[in-house]
Amino acid sequence: MIDDTAAAVLRRLERRDALERESGAARAERLRQVTPDVGRFLHTLVLAAKPGSVVEVGTSGGYSTIWLATAARAVGASLVTLEMDPAKVRTARESLREAGVGETVTLLQEDAFVYLGRREEAIDFAFLDAEKEDYLAFYELLVPLLAGGGVLVADNLTSHAEELAGFRERALSDPRVSAVVVPIGRGELLAVRDSRRGGAGGAAGTIVS
Ligand SMILES: C[S@@+](CC[C@H](N)C(=O)[O-])C[C@H]1O[C@@H](n2cnc3c(N)ncnc32)[C@H](O)[C@@H]1O
Repeated sequence: MIDDTAAAVLRRLERRDALERESGAARAERLRQVTPDVGRFLHTLVLAAKPGSVVEVGTSGGYSTIWLATAARAVGASLVTLEMDPAKVRTARESLREAGVGETVTLLQEDAFVYLGRREEAIDFAFLDAEKEDYLAFYELLVPLLAGGGVLVADNLTSHAEELAGFRERALSDPRVSAVVVPIGRGELLAVRDSRRGGAGGAAGTIVS
């Protein structure tokens, strides 16, 4: 489901990310994207879960977004991705257009806290890849919005193990979700909202936190 056009953009972003890491470019300027196996993991999970809606927190240059979007397009899901940095938004817009998924993705230049704070519609699949100090706060916003059976993936659980210890503990001991840390890439939290304990957008259409 990754055609040659999208694959070429992914390869180009992988080369740029690798060069930036090698050259020691400033953190704020780097793409800091997920590894290719994590991109494929996200793509495969979306194909398997067949969500109606996907939300990504932290677009950067659009690398993970392309993996998500190609799968979202295949299953007919909507995809909203959030990025605050205007330079990254410009790079992402261009990458998504070149990859042929510009029409599939709603790319918002906005603080994801503000977006999630006003969102009422349930989310079927969420990917969290923003600043690590914000993970717990994002978790507390995202889980109540997850539909029953909805999926949350978060990056960097092993690369930032110490910094994300509280986040990991919260997710792994949270009765609202079944969660596991998958040791690929930089470590992915995979959590599924338990349908028996409510979940957003249930029969009553309400959010149950
Ligand atoms: C690790 S990078 C994302 C990499 C991207 N997911 C990928 O794999 O290609 C994190 C991005 O999140 C953005 N970000 C951080 N906090 C944010 C927030 N509160 N709202 C929106 N974007 C945010 C940063 O500007 C940065 O570009």
